[in-house]
Amino acid sequence: MGRSAARGASIAVRRPFDEVRTERLLMRRWRDADREAYAAMNADPQVMRYFPATMSQADSDAHVDRIEELFDRVGVGLWALEVSQTGKFIGFTGLNPVPEYVPGAEGFEIGWRLAAHAWHQGYATEAATAALHVGFSGAGLDRIWSFTSVLNTPSAAVMRRIGMSQHGFFEHPRIEPGHPLRRHVLYRKDR
Ligand SMILES: CC(C)(COP(=O)(O)OP(=O)(O)OC[C@H]1O[C@@H](n2cnc3c(N)ncnc32)[C@H](O)[C@@H]1OP(=O)(O)O)[C@@H](O)C(=O)NCCC(=O)NCCS
Repeated sequence: MGRSAARGASIAVRRPFDEVRTERLLMRRWRDADREAYAAMNADPQVMRYFPATMSQADSDAHVDRIEELFDRVGVGLWALEVSQTGKFIGFTGLNPVPEYVPGAEGFEIGWRLAAHAWHQGYATEAATAALHVGFSGAGLDRIWSFTSVLNTPSAAVMRRIGMSQHGFFEHPRIEPGHPLRRHVLYRKDR
């Protein structure tokens, strides 16, 4: 059993869920070979359009380190996505503790970030459907959250496609007042 340090508690999940297979994807733990392609994604202004800034290689690598540390500790996380047929890394989808700055939400959120070449093929929805299943049926979570800038309509569309319901709005406290990305929409789904 792993125990999360997420706010609100003590979510215990059975481990490990190192690999999840979907129709077209392998969702897996990260490899060092993913880091270059992940850094390229995080440096792409198109991919990071709804984030305050692109990420440096060092920040991108540090994110991979944090993701892997969570898998070690909790048994689930943001899986690296590989297209089964080609072996190509295309980004991540998975579960992550809700940050403490999201009002009213606790436990785990679901999230995704794909390289632009992998958009519009249903990969995020396919991986997110599997991640929800692992969260509810494997890890025993009762509720899963998701949130994004109100401008990020592609991300909210994934939330709706996997059956999440809108649950209000909040102002992101780490984005300055007046910034167009500050207003966020919150979604959730119960088991
Ligand atoms: C958010 C993000 C993952 C959404 O990607 P997406 O390609 O719109 O979503 P999906 O992978 O689920 O693909 C759905 C699209 O594929 C199409 N599609 C094609 N083949 C499909 C298939 N076999 N099954 C399902 N959908 C398919 C759908 O019709 C839909 O089309 P649309 O893009 O014209 O609406 C992507 O925009 C992204 O990575 N953005 C940058 C990072 C980001 O903002 N992350 C979220 C932060 S909160």
